[in-house]
Order: sequence, then structure tokens, then C-alpha cells
Amino acid sequence: MNDFENALTHCLDSLMDSKVKDAMLYSLCAGGKRIRPQLLFSVLRAYGCDEKIGYKAAIGIEMIHTYSLIHDDLPCMDNDDLRRGKPTCHIQFDEATAMLAGDALLTQAFLMAASACEDASINLQLVALFAKMSGADGMIYGQICDLQNQDNPNATMESCLHTDHYKTGCLLTLPLLCGALLSHHETDLPIWEKIGYLLGEAFQIQDDILDIESNEETMGKSLSDIQNNKVTYVSLLGIDQAKKRVEDLFEKMNAEINKIDIDQQIINELMNKIYNRKH
Ligand code: IPE
Ligand code: IPE
Ligand code: MG
Ligand code: MG
Ligand code: MG
Repeated sequence: MNDFENALTHCLDSLMDSKVKDAMLYSLCAGGKRIRPQLLFSVLRAYGCDEKIGYKAAIGIEMIHTYSLIHDDLPCMDNDDLRRGKPTCHIQFDEATAMLAGDALLTQAFLMAASACEDASINLQLVALFAKMSGADGMIYGQICDLQNQDNPNATMESCLHTDHYKTGCLLTLPLLCGALLSHHETDLPIWEKIGYLLGEAFQIQDDILDIESNEETMGKSLSDIQNNKVTYVSLLGIDQAKKRVEDLFEKMNAEINKIDIDQQIINELMNKIYNRKH
């Protein structure tokens, strides 16, 4: 991952110098876990490909993810001060710059997808997939559902599952699909999609659990679910049931992974790492 971190550090070099560029780089290189890039690289390696063929797509996905976090932290959304162990973008810069840095990261991501590999037809598919998974039928749809769930005493398990399918599931499914496309395994797309959405649910339940059980220093971000009156899996199920659900979801993912003709060990190692995550 060191090579990839290095690539991320330089991915905005060609842009004109500006405050927006500074803010984009600040948030992008603040040190996230890079789980989405790792998912893409693991799929590629599991198919016997060099992970480097996924660098551009992975940078694009990390740009979209980082933009989603910059906007998620804004005062009009979760209103948080700490992200990736540093002041959030709007605290370090200002609200207008943070909003524009998010917009610019999203836009820049499409340049990455459009030039991801040498096959123009695959790049076109990646561009369409990036749009679907991040837009009003994807992550953004999930974010608006999430805001509507807030302060809603009638929010149910069903509405949480629906919200998080989009809010978290889409951007975790995207790298798996990119890996299948870049390695020319289109026929496996449906199964990766299934794994991605199971992972999205598990990942968000873990996030909700950690918001209660962990602390800001370990997480490197503000833990504000209670303050924001968020209906979460923990508030709906309780901690023990929420943890049991995470375990069941990883078992389901494992069963799906076993159906694909790949080096399963590579995917299982990453899944175990995510299962045991403490931040
Ligand atoms: C945080 O994602 C947002 C959620 C989907 C819960 P990550 O936990 O992957 O955040 P970073 O990239 O490591 O900062
Ligand atoms: C945000 O979910 C997920 C996206 C940015 C799409 P959360 O609001 O729970 O994420 P954190 O806890 O702030 O990282
Ligand atoms: Mg949020
Ligand atoms: Mg948030
Ligand atoms: Mg959260």
C-alpha cells in the first residue's frame, strides 16, 4: 500500500495551485484506512492480476469516498470537527472551500475512471458505474435517507437497511465491481455485487457499534450518533444483537466468496482484517 499512498499524494499534481487543491489534498492524504482500494486490489490479485492495473480506478474511488466524508462532516450534515485524526476540512479551511473541495474531488474522480485502463470500452463502463454508485441512485440517495431517519421515532430496521444499502453499500461494492471489470471477469459481477452489499451492511453496523464502544482518539473522527439523534443498528438492536448480525453477514460473504473461481485466501485475509477492525 505504500506505493499506492505515494500515488495518491501525487494524483493532484497537475492541477493549478489553489486553496481548493490544498483542501482536496489535505483530506485525501489525511490517512484513511483505504479499505475500498484494498478491496479492488484484492479482487485483482485474487484473479492473478497485478494490483497496479487498478491504481487509477482506486484513486478515483478514494476521491469519491473522501468527498462524501468532507460533505458528511459539514455543519448542515453531521457537523463534525475531527476526521482521519485531523480537523475536518471545513474546520481546517472554511465551509465554502470544503464544499468546493468535495465537488472537485468528485469531478476529478471521473477523469480517473475515464482513463483507468487502455481499453476505452471498460473505461466507459467504469464511468457509468462510478456515476450510478455515487449519485442520486447510490451513495447520495443513502445520505438523504440517513438525514431523514434522524430524529424520526418511526425509523425501523427496514429503513436503516434500506438507507445503508445505498449510503455505505454502494461505495464498498464499487471497488469489487471495478476489479471484476478490469480483470475481464464480467460474468462474476452479480456475485461481487452480492458480496459488496453484504459487506456494506456489516461495515455500517460495525461503524455504529464503534461509534458507541470506541473513542475519538482510536477512531480519528468525531463520534456524534447520539448527539445527532441517529437511529442506528445499535439503537435498534442493542450491541449484542448488532455484533451477532455482523458475524452472520461475514459468514454469508464467505459462502459467496467460495463460489468464485479465484484465490480465495486473498479475499478472506482482507475480510478477516475488516471483520476484526477496531477503527
Ligand atoms: C467511513 O468510512 C464512512 C462509513 C462508510 C462508515 P471508512 O471507515 O472507510 O473511513 P476512512 O476512509 O478509513 O477514513
Ligand atoms: C457516512 O456515514 C457515510 C458516507 C459518508 C456516505 P456516517 O456519517 O456514519 O460516517 P462517519 O461515522 O461520519 O464516518
Ligand atoms: Mg452521516
Ligand atoms: Mg458522519
Ligand atoms: Mg458513523
